[in-house]
Amino acid sequence: MKVVVTGGLGFIGSHTVVELQNQGFEVIAIDNLSNAEESVLDGIEKITGKKPIFENIDLREKVAVQHFFKKYNDIVGVIHFAASKAVGESVENPLLYYENNINALVYVLQELTALPQANFIFSSSCTVYGQAEKMPITEDASVQPALSPYGNTKQIGEEIITDTAKVTNLNSILLRYFNPIGAHPTAEIGELPIGVPQNLVPFITQTAMGLREKLSVFGDDYATPDGTCIRDYIHVVDLAKAHVIALQRLLSKQNEQKVETFNLGTGTGSSVLEVIHAFEKVSGQKLNYQIVARREGDITSAYANTDKANKVLGWKSQLTLEEALAAAWKWEQKIRS
Ligand code: UD1
Repeated sequence: MKVVVTGGLGFIGSHTVVELQNQGFEVIAIDNLSNAEESVLDGIEKITGKKPIFENIDLREKVAVQHFFKKYNDIVGVIHFAASKAVGESVENPLLYYENNINALVYVLQELTALPQANFIFSSSCTVYGQAEKMPITEDASVQPALSPYGNTKQIGEEIITDTAKVTNLNSILLRYFNPIGAHPTAEIGELPIGVPQNLVPFITQTAMGLREKLSVFGDDYATPDGTCIRDYIHVVDLAKAHVIALQRLLSKQNEQKVETFNLGTGTGSSVLEVIHAFEKVSGQKLNYQIVARREGDITSAYANTDKANKVLGWKSQLTLEEALAAAWKWEQKIRS
């Protein structure tokens, strides 16, 4: 069965290609290489013994998307990762985000819904909940006004899919990720942030590696036990596996609604200081860090209630924060060696 993975050479995309191939799917990975390197294909091959088919396509080019779907009209589903994800950059350049995250989505859906079966897995984010009132966050928590164009593209994306499913053959699962971290335990694939990392874990591993002088901890005066923000850090391999399960649910027509939504997290919140100390433990390195002012737009706390994914998808995260940090550290050491 042929499955399309857009953004298939990116961080979560490449790990999902691995899990799909491990389950016997034939994968066609689309990527425009704007935030990934073609050598990721070699890493995937080393892990699975197979390279996916690769198409270097920019999904903002409608005609290219049309050609692609004509060429591969026997696909059974699309897992859509291709999108920009830097919050700050989206504030600076909103139109880039709306074009990349919305136009591309629309073009893919236009072609997919013209095929006999239209199964679609969408990368959404816990950012849609804003600062939720109740922890842990369930899927029926309300969607809050977006704090950034990036966040808005995830909300609009969910709406586009929901509206389209009402009037077409589209069946979709929206996966709201909490904080994906880590790398493949083989260190053959992992995260490749361009420039200065904005996210916590790549900043930690680069600091430990000596690429950054020190980590700034953004605020220790939050209303949390140690004063630093709390997030739900999920190992990217666990996250990737959930995509395969979600796709299988659509393929076997087990979905109860045309559009279903699931939180993907571990269910456990960790503070920034807890992550730092866990990293120090698994790496044996002392991390140079300093408490600085809060970062604008950060929420105090977000962690998932994962009951729905556990019960309905039969998926549960298996790997620990320590395993994720150890894998991220192994990956960082490998790419700098
Ligand atoms: C951010 C985005 C989120 C997006 C996700 C993936 C915001 C408000 N949220 O999540 O919408 O889906 O990235 O790209 O930007 N931290 C430090 N020092 C650092 C970096 C981070 O202390 O150098 C802290 C942050 O304050 C936060 C935690 O670490 O408390 C996690 O930060 P980060 O990895 O950037 O993820 P989010 O902000 O949760």
